Amino acid sequence: MKKIKYTAKIKRYNPDEDRSYWQDFEVEVEDSLTVLELLMYIKDKIDPTLTFRAFCRSAICGSCAMIINNRAGLACKIQAKDKIKNGVIKIEPLKTLKPIRDLVVDQEPAFDKLKKIKPYLEPDPKVVPDNLKSESLVLPEEFARYDKQTDCILCMACYGQCNALKGDDEYLGPFQLTKVFRFIMDTRDGVDVEERIKLAEDHGIWECVQCQMCFAACPKGISSCDDILELRRIAKDTGEENIATRRAKFWFATVFETGQIDKFNLPAVAFGDEKGEKARENMEKEFRKRGLPEDEFGPKPFDGIDKFKNFIKKIEKEL
Ligand code: SF4
Ligand code: SF4
Ligand code: FES
Repeated sequence: MKKIKYTAKIKRYNPDEDRSYWQDFEVEVEDSLTVLELLMYIKDKIDPTLTFRAFCRSAICGSCAMIINNRAGLACKIQAKDKIKNGVIKIEPLKTLKPIRDLVVDQEPAFDKLKKIKPYLEPDPKVVPDNLKSESLVLPEEFARYDKQTDCILCMACYGQCNALKGDDEYLGPFQLTKVFRFIMDTRDGVDVEERIKLAEDHGIWECVQCQMCFAACPKGISSCDDILELRRIAKDTGEENIATRRAKFWFATVFETGQIDKFNLPAVAFGDEKGEKARENMEKEFRKRGLPEDEFGPKPFDGIDKFKNFIKKIEKEL
């Protein structure tokens, strides 16, 4: 078996001193190791105090999620040699959860958010029989709508790299919102769609910035960002006047009038209350920080806008 030499740069956390620090470990190991096997080697041969979570070693239990070279993933699924850059592999705990020790993070806040969205099925008596003799049937095409989402192993890799959480630590999180989608799609669920959507709206679907990092991190190929887009569509269809409808109307009106999205006013109009005012203040602060003059906060119609408007009107007539 071929051996290779490199440096494992690991971010550690000492709870007694409340201190995070990087530590380099020089290793010469077989090139076939996974990142988890590399950590086990270091713990075994170099420093027994190195702390991390792991159990199944087969990408099933979800224990070993961490950040490897700035990307969240499962240590037991990733080959260490694929991640070595200039002789170094960088390993650190998930970013949006507090470390407890070294690579072990406190998952409780993320689980508490999961509890908020009713992460379970409340059987619909019209569909689910009340005795064990009859079956509760789900057609293959019905199951296909949420089949992928049931693969979630709650590893929190998506959560550990979510950009919306960096701006709002109360944001529900990607896997929690995927769970909302999964239960709305389940034909056996008796909870009203409106109720499930309401649970997903508070610090939820409207705060996602669609950066797709959750999809990039997920070891099971689940695209929470797409589930969130679907939830936004469902929210729009379930209410006459809500964040979704205000957002969609304003989005369309400004694109029609100017040919551009009014990024400055869109969050304020969509939220439409105190939260909207807060959003406007934050946007103003951000725009001023970037040196934009006030008259450039909103979009201005571009040359040829009338042609564009006529084009849109033509499409509307054809629909
Ligand atoms: S797409 Fe949304 S949920 Fe996914 S990581 Fe980005 S902000 Fe978070
Ligand atoms: S959605 Fe994917 S990354 Fe997120 S917790 Fe579930 S399995 Fe892990
Ligand atoms: S050890 Fe179980 S998922 Fe990695």
